[in-house]
Order: sequence, then C-alpha cells, then structure tokens
Amino acid sequence: MDAPTKQTPPGKPGGVDSPTWPEWPLLPPDAIETAKSALDRTAWDPAVLNGFRPLGEGPIPAFEAAFSQRLDVPFAVALSSGAAALHAALIAADVRPGDEVIISPYSWPQALVFLDALDAVPVFCDVTAETLCLNPASVEERITDKTRAVIVEHTAGCPAAVDHIVGIAARHGTTVIEDCAAALGAQRRGRAVGTIGDIGCFSLGPRKHLPCGEGGVIVTRDSRIYEKTLATCQHPDRAAFLSSSVISAPGFFWPYRMHPIGAVLGLALIPHLEAWHQERARNHERLRDRLRDRSGCVRLVEAEPGDEHAWGSLLLHVNLMESNIGLQGRPSIRLRSGPVHTPLHQRGVVLDRWGDQLACPIAEARCNSQEWMIADTIGWVTNQGELISRIDAGLTAILDESHHSGNNLLFQATEILDRAICGSGIASDSLVNDGDIIVLDDRSR
Ligand SMILES: Cc1ncc(COP(=O)(O)O)c(C=O)c1O
Repeated sequence: MDAPTKQTPPGKPGGVDSPTWPEWPLLPPDAIETAKSALDRTAWDPAVLNGFRPLGEGPIPAFEAAFSQRLDVPFAVALSSGAAALHAALIAADVRPGDEVIISPYSWPQALVFLDALDAVPVFCDVTAETLCLNPASVEERITDKTRAVIVEHTAGCPAAVDHIVGIAARHGTTVIEDCAAALGAQRRGRAVGTIGDIGCFSLGPRKHLPCGEGGVIVTRDSRIYEKTLATCQHPDRAAFLSSSVISAPGFFWPYRMHPIGAVLGLALIPHLEAWHQERARNHERLRDRLRDRSGCVRLVEAEPGDEHAWGSLLLHVNLMESNIGLQGRPSIRLRSGPVHTPLHQRGVVLDRWGDQLACPIAEARCNSQEWMIADTIGWVTNQGELISRIDAGLTAILDESHHSGNNLLFQATEILDRAICGSGIASDSLVNDGDIIVLDDRSR
C-alpha cells in the first residue's frame, strides 16, 4: 500500500519522526501524480475542468461511476459537499413547509440549516446508549403521517440500525436518508451504509474517509431520486437528457457541483479505501485490546455485533464510577469534552426557531456527564501501535491521578493525555479537543 507520509514543509520543524497524532489528509504519491497529470491534460482537453459535461464525459461521471460501483448501488451524483448532499436528499424527498423530519439530537447540526430553509420541522428522537445512533424504538414512538423523512446518521462511523428504521418508515410512506458523512466503509448487516435507506449522503471533506478537499455524494437505487437530484442540484447541461416532467423549473437549481479536480482525486483514492479501512480497524482492535482490562470504565463506542464500524474519531464510553482503581462510591463524576456538548434539541437556535422539544434522555445524559472524544482517528492508516501504547499510558495517568487526588479533583485530562502522547504538555495539532475541563469528581460543586 502507498501509505500517506508526512513531508516536512520547508522552514518548519517536525516531520515524519515527530511523535504527533497522524495528520489527515496526506495524499499518497500515486494520487498526487494522477492529479498532476490531470492538470497537464487541461492544456488540450477541455473536459477535465468542465463539470457541466453530460453523463459519460470528464472526471465527474467517471468518479460517480467508480463510487457507485464501490458501494454496489446503481446511481451516484457528485456534489459540492456533504451538506449539499443532505440538502439534495431533502429536496429529493419532497420535504415541504410544515413537514416533519426526524433527526438525531446527538449530531452535527448541518441538516437543521436546510430544515430551516425548507420551513420544515425537526422532530428529535433519542439515540441508543451503545452506538449513539438513532434508536428505532424512539423513531417508532415519534413518527407520524406528517413525517416526510428520517435522517439516520451513522454517528462517527458507527452503523445505525437503519434496517429497522426503514421498516418503520415504510409503514408511514416516509423517506429514509442516511447521513454517512463520516461513515464511508461502515456496514450494517453486511450491507454498505448509504445503500439501505432511500438515499445515502457522503462527505468528501478534508477530515473524511475519501478526502477530496471538498465534495459530497448522494447514492440511491431509485431512478426518480437520481433524476431529481440531477435536475435540482446540477447544471442543466448535465440533466439535458431528462424529460421535461423531471425538470419542472428550468434554470432553477442549486449550484452544488463538485470541483472536477476533486473528482480526479476521488477517483485516484478509491483504490486505497479498503486498505485504509483495514488498517484503521486493526488499530482500533489494538486499542480495544489495551482497554480490555478496564472496559468497565473506558471503552470504545462500538458497532453492534456483526456490523462494521468505519472508525474515524476516537469516541469513548466512560464510566469512572465503575473503575476498579478506587473511584467507587464517589458521587457526580462528570466528563465532557465533545464533540456535541449540547444536544441539538436543547440548543438556543432550535428553541428560538421551533420552540420546546421533546426530551431525549440518553443523548442528554451523554452530553451532560459522559461525553468524551479524544481525537480523530481518520489518519490511522498505518500501524499506530506506538501511539496506542502512549494513549494507554495517558489513560492510566488520568485514572491514577483521579485515584490519588482528593475530592476536589479538577484537571485537564487532555493535557495529561497529550503529555503521554507527545511527551509535552503542548496539544498536537490534530487533537480536536477544545480543552474542555473534564471534572472527574464534582462533589464540591
Ligand atoms: C454527520 C455530518 N453530516 C454532514 C456533514 C457535512 O459535510 P460537509 O462538511 O462535507 O459539508 C458533516 C461534516 O462533518 C457531518 O459530520
């Protein structure tokens, strides 16, 4: 495998030997060569930089064909971002003013922007404690005949029980949109996520599995959704072959085109996906082994048995009350370091726009007292055994510290971890924690 390697930028210290968290994206040499030769070709081939070309010409249709082949789904449309893909999906699902759309409160708020723009109404359903994805039982409880769509996010790469939700949605004529922005490579019951609901949405942004700089894709088995997406989110030249019944308002479309050089990169990176996926899985297996002895207090957020996680962020379940190193019996242990902080249904912007929301106790509990994400692991595409043993040492240091300190313990767990990982108290660039204080014993408050 052509592993991405970090080159030292001119004038900067560091480089491949610095003991830092692996950065992402670092392109493999063959992808760089492919992009260079595509740029060379622009001197004589106008198709390279033309994203308006009809189907079958230039890098964008080639990328779409390779992406749909990889997921074994008939249709893919390349778009400008994962957010654009969500918007395109809501348009394709015919979401109209007043329609309800079910959504997870433990999420990135992107879809809410489009619900606002479409004058639709979010209905928040709770997540399952294990996967942090939408809980089908909560969907069953809150779905109505006004629910036009359910957005099922595969949270941080962990596959949701989307097959169950598809069954529930079918009884209400509701479209299932899978938000796979961070889940390319995940599988639910042997099927690629994104291909189980009606529409799958992917991000090709810089911290995602197929990093094209920016970009997004929707995939579908439904030719009507495919045609509608071409008609509403691409230049009319790409949709020229469609019948006029699909193009209801000529010239009225969202300019969500992917950059053709992004498509060139995507095409060059698709062959790397499998090896990267396997290496990430091996690294998380190594980490799981390390954590095994204290799985009562710190463990990975895992996929359900038989499902395949896409691994991209180090999201943990933490229960220090269960720790076997002396924390038993201490009250009010709190952890909170992202990535969500405040569940969407409790955010001011949501309450101002849509009023009071139904409770989602599991998402609330996770955000209030148990949230811990160490960093992105999207760059773990080479053996990270050394880094993983340093993470292990850092976690031991945190747990030891909490054991030896008094009741008013209050410290930056991130700093301790960072010291263990990098040998200094200075946060490495890629650690995405924002330095939130993690309070391990809150008795004094
Ligand atoms: C779950 C989720 N959905 C949608 C998006 C939007 O993707 P993009 O940044 O490509 O617009 C993101 C971005 O991180 C995301 O995490």
